[in-house]
Formats: sequence, C-alpha cells, structure tokens
Amino acid sequence: MSLKTFPTNFLWGGATAANQLEGAYLKNGKGLSVNDLLVGGTDKRPREITREIQADKYYPSHQAIDFYHHYKEDIKLFAEMGFKIYRFSIAWTRIYPHGFEEEPNKKGLEFYDGVIQELKKYHIQPLITISHYEPPLAMTQKFNGWESRRAIEQYVKFAKTIIKRYHHDVKYWIMFNEINILTRTSGAYLGGGMYVSNNSNFDNPEIDSEQMRFNALHHQFLASSLVTSFAHQYDPSLKMGCMLAYHTIYPLTSNPVDIQYAQEVSKISNFYCGDVQVKGKYPYFAQRYWQKHNLKLDIQPQDAKILLQGKVDYFTFSYYQSTTVTLDKEKNTLQKGNFISGVKNPYLKTSDWGWAIDPLGLRIALNQVFDRYNLPIMVVENGLGAKDKLEFTRDGQPYINDDYRINYLKQHLSAMYEALQDGVDLIGYTSWAPIDLVSASSGQMSKRYGYIYVDKDDYGHGTLKRYKKKSFYWYKQVIQNNGII
Ligand code: BG6
Repeated sequence: MSLKTFPTNFLWGGATAANQLEGAYLKNGKGLSVNDLLVGGTDKRPREITREIQADKYYPSHQAIDFYHHYKEDIKLFAEMGFKIYRFSIAWTRIYPHGFEEEPNKKGLEFYDGVIQELKKYHIQPLITISHYEPPLAMTQKFNGWESRRAIEQYVKFAKTIIKRYHHDVKYWIMFNEINILTRTSGAYLGGGMYVSNNSNFDNPEIDSEQMRFNALHHQFLASSLVTSFAHQYDPSLKMGCMLAYHTIYPLTSNPVDIQYAQEVSKISNFYCGDVQVKGKYPYFAQRYWQKHNLKLDIQPQDAKILLQGKVDYFTFSYYQSTTVTLDKEKNTLQKGNFISGVKNPYLKTSDWGWAIDPLGLRIALNQVFDRYNLPIMVVENGLGAKDKLEFTRDGQPYINDDYRINYLKQHLSAMYEALQDGVDLIGYTSWAPIDLVSASSGQMSKRYGYIYVDKDDYGHGTLKRYKKKSFYWYKQVIQNNGII
C-alpha cells in the first residue's frame, strides 16, 4: 500500500487540558477552579459538583496524573514521538488564583515558563488554550461565572498577562475550548463556570437555563474578540483561533422534516459560535432562535463593534463523533455524546462509552467548515476513550496492545488525508490525549486516550508510572513518515 503523505510542515502533536492532567491543585498559590469541586463519576453515574471540598469524596483534578511534577518526563516522551506541536491550557487559577488579583502569581507563571522551556528544548511548538473549563471558583461564587459581564474584564486581564509573557514562543492561541457546548448544556464540563442544577447538588433550580447559557456565550464572544484585537495589535505575528466541539449532524431519514431538523440542530450547535468568532457578527438565523426560545441577551450598543474588530485567524475543532437526529419520537433510542445526544445511527459502531465512531464524518466536517469559513483549520482533539490493559511478558516487560486505538486513529487520519485532497486547508492535528488523563465527562482514569499509559485507577490509586503503548510506536512512525500507510 502506498503512503498517504501530508503537507510539508504539517503540525503533528497532541492536546491536553490543565485540570485533567496537572494535579498540584493548591501548589504554589494556585486557587480553586470550578473543576476542583467536580467529584469523579462513571459512565452511568454523572459527576457531582459540591459546594466545598468534602473529605469523604474523591476529586480527580486534585492530583490528576501529576504532570506538574512529571512534565519533563512527559514532554521527553512527546519529543520521542516526534511532536511538532503540543496543545495545552494554562490553569487560570495558577496565574490569578481567585481571578480578581491585581498582580499575577509569579510562581504560577514560573511553572509554565518551565513547560515552555522544556518544549523549546525539543523544538516542539506550544499551542495555548487560554480557557479550558477551569475558571476560578471565586468568580463563580461572586457573580456566577460567565453569566456576568464582569467575567470579561477578569479574563482579558489573564489573557493579556500570558500573551505578553509568551508571545515570543507561542504563535497559536485558542481563546475558549469547545465554546459551543454552552449552546446545549452547562453539564459536567462547566464551560461557563456557572453552577448547574443537573448533575449537581446545588439547590437553585433556576441556574441552568438556556437564557443564562446564551448570555454567558455572548460574554465569551466579547472576551474572545477583545483578546484577539489586543493580540493583533501587540504582536501581529500571533494567530488567534476559535475552538468548537464539532458534530457532523445527520437526519435519520430522508423525510424533509428530519432533514430540516438536522439543519436546525447544526446551525445552532455547529455554526452559531463559529459565525460570530469568524465573521464578527451573529448569524442570520440568531434572531429567530432567540425569539422562539424567549432569550433576552445582554447586548449593549458598543458590542457589535467589539465583535467585528476581533475576528479569529484560524479555525479549530474537536471531533469525536457524529450525531443523528429525527423528529420521529418512536425512533428515539438515545445515543450518547459529549454534549449533543441523538438517536442510534444504524450504520455506525460505538465506543465503550457509547460515542458513535464515524471517520467519514470528520471528512464531511472538514469540508463543511472550510466551505463556510475559508480559514486554515486544525483538528485539535480526536481520539478513542477505551479501557486498556497493562500486561507483562514472561520476562517482565510491560506492554499495552491497543490495536483498536491505532485502528480508530488510522481511519480518522485517512479521512483527514481525503479532506486535504478535497482541497481543505488543514494545517495540523493534535490528538486527544497523548497521555492518559482524567476524563472530562466522567472523571474516570479508565477512559484512556493516551499513547502513554499512566498507572492510576478511578479511585486515585496507582504508582503514576508511565508506560509506552503500542500506539506510541505507531504514532511515532506516522510523524516520521509525515503520513499513513
Ligand atoms: C472534549 C474536551 O470534549 O472531549 C476534553 O475538550 C475532553 O476536555 C474530551 O477530555 C474527551 O471527553 P472525555 O469526557 O472522554 O474526557
């Protein structure tokens, strides 16, 4: 079979988020983020969020995989695979522990100085996500996170601090991870840093409303634009990107009502946010949606200008699955997903966690996004959460045979290759996640994505030792060949 070669300088790498791997949740002045109050769950039992830390509960972010103390070892392994780029987030609460401080926490910055130095040593380019579901808890307690316009000022201060400090070494930035999840849910991820009523034991039933989420989104759009405008002025070489959880949406049947319904779902979940961040204004369909859902947004006279001035330079998204929808209630057997649920697609298999596996959906997604926005694209998350088994040969050598993961990734890389042949300007791929870490939706360690196995279980036990999986050697080969066979 022939080699499917990717463009020269294609950015191969991996992606992680601070709250899912760093641990050291109070070290060197770090404050609590909303994520530090999320208790571990399972695929059947949703994560719970508590008002304060309770001694008898297990909070996976507190130690996670202790990247904080292992980053040199971990980055060395990324370098061994040949990474060109590493996407990670900066924990807001390491830099501004409560959000409101006037001056940043020096020790927090020094940690990321170290991470970036280490990446430079191996010529791995950093890609920074400014906010990945980890806003300061104090902001949530004071004004319910992004529900309030006051979050904008705090975020802009944080973003400016890190952009000024790292702009020489970091060209690519992402303002918000999967900003569009707020169109559907506050859920376990807490993208808006707001207290949610479902999945939680907070007693205010008012707090997870669509009204609140769409207002929070408006504030995030403004924050994204303000930071983008600032970065463009401060250092014109910087590339500021949006990031969405993209779901290719299919109608279950060819009945036009299903097709129209699929289009409606896609407009809000896939395009509402991208349109604002790429085009600098709300899409044509927004008004009708707001009216139908009785949403009153906190749009002030100066906002239109702010949005127009801070358009992003490139487009990124995560892709794990497609979603199939229908209006036919009889056919509504539920299909799980990371934020949109739909119905079971009879043509697709699912992962152990019930997510539809659909590599062709990625090619469709890439074409849809490029057709609509005509910007360079990076796929900044994609991978298979699966149960891996650490085994030992007779002479005591560890091995993890994860052929299923290799197979999943290979098919998705093939889909990307086809999209490139279609003419899509795809410039990079950072798979989720190069190393096992805490699952965002379930809080489990056993939902593993890595090329590197970490010895830790769902209850916090384990040596934290790192082991290379079979996929480690496979991905190394992919990067070496700049393509797949
Ligand atoms: C994305 C998030 O939704 O999916 C990540 O950006 C998350 O933070 C990833 O980890 C995979 O989801 P999960 O729930 O399997 O960890």
